[in-house]
Amino acid sequence: MKLAKRLENLPPYLFAAIGKKIAEKKAKGEDVISFAIGDPDMPTPPHIIKRLCQAAQDPANHHYPDTDSLPELRRTIAGWYQSRFGVSLDADREVLPLIGSKEGIHHIALCFIDPGDIALIPDPGYPPYATGTILAGGRPYYLPLTERNGFLPDLKAIPFDVLQKAKLLWLNYPHNPTGAVADLDFFNRSVQFARQHNLAVCHDAPYSEVAFDGYQPVSFLQAEGAKEVGMEFHSLSKSYNMTGWRIGMAVGNVEMITALKTIKSNWDSGIPQAIQYAAIEALTGPQGCIPEHNAIYQRRRDLLVETLNSIGLEARPAKASLYVWAKVPEGYNSVEFASDILDKYGIVVTPGTGYGKQGENYIRLSLTIPDASLVKGLSRLSGWRNTRVMSKTKR
Ligand SMILES: Cc1ncc(COP(=O)(O)O)c(C=O)c1O
Repeated sequence: MKLAKRLENLPPYLFAAIGKKIAEKKAKGEDVISFAIGDPDMPTPPHIIKRLCQAAQDPANHHYPDTDSLPELRRTIAGWYQSRFGVSLDADREVLPLIGSKEGIHHIALCFIDPGDIALIPDPGYPPYATGTILAGGRPYYLPLTERNGFLPDLKAIPFDVLQKAKLLWLNYPHNPTGAVADLDFFNRSVQFARQHNLAVCHDAPYSEVAFDGYQPVSFLQAEGAKEVGMEFHSLSKSYNMTGWRIGMAVGNVEMITALKTIKSNWDSGIPQAIQYAAIEALTGPQGCIPEHNAIYQRRRDLLVETLNSIGLEARPAKASLYVWAKVPEGYNSVEFASDILDKYGIVVTPGTGYGKQGENYIRLSLTIPDASLVKGLSRLSGWRNTRVMSKTKR
């Protein structure tokens, strides 16, 4: 058997390695508490499940779905963008439902990237922007996001020869893993930059509804002229606890949406229709679950940030997203620190380097952990002491 070379170019999938470590610990009977994965712990709201079950029982939904999904779902998505962001979308040409946004994130690379082309990718960032580029034969050029620049890319620092080969610019706010947010001014500047350098912008926004302290994230499509140069990926995964149902959407530039539809029509066979009806219910039904969940995440965020700071890990409360991005203590790098607390306390966090080089010296903790585990985890963590610094001082 001879596997394709492209597999060798891929970095190992971050959560596969973490999942393996957790399984090993659990097999030994150890109680492991995981802050690692951003998968909402709370169930999908009951009215959405009820609609899904009803639709599953209708034989009309037992067939191959259309690539571009039900017109009713596309119209619902367009209506939601209008009411949430004041953005008008043509439901037939500017909206494409996806089998979760990760699917579209990978497939858009096939629409733009030929061998040797460059995609501009945030570092740290959600790994599929880079793996999609690599699988398409392209090269990621990483844009460092640092605390100093508010975790926003310095677009002017991109070298001219890179820009000549670059086709895609990836942005993601609220940002995974740092929890950073961007304002309309930043998106306006990104649109101008994309116009100047003939780039297509992909803004990934699955956390736009997970926000705290009254903050309301904006959409990239609210920027002046955004639809001329870019599109936005969105998802029902995080807003409605629907990670398991796999439903998201791409919206915006007609040419980009059409290209994505072409790839998808050759690649997959659509989104199960019962799930499409569940998505319609999620977007049009009662919206109380969103503030309810956000209040829970906000309380968890505050507890987590307080504990981390109390043991010497610098962390700030994020305005949005499901994550806390914390600096590891002196004397450790991110993998060493994550291993230390896993070995000593059975606590799993994600090393920042899993999201890129700039993630060094950070860890990411997710707020999607049930309260009882959170309290137990925090009580274990509060016992942590930086023995490395203490032993250095003694010497
Ligand atoms: C930044 C970002 N984009 C996209 C996704 C994928 O979401 P889904 O495929 O569930 O819609 C995730 C999931 O964690 C994410 O963090």
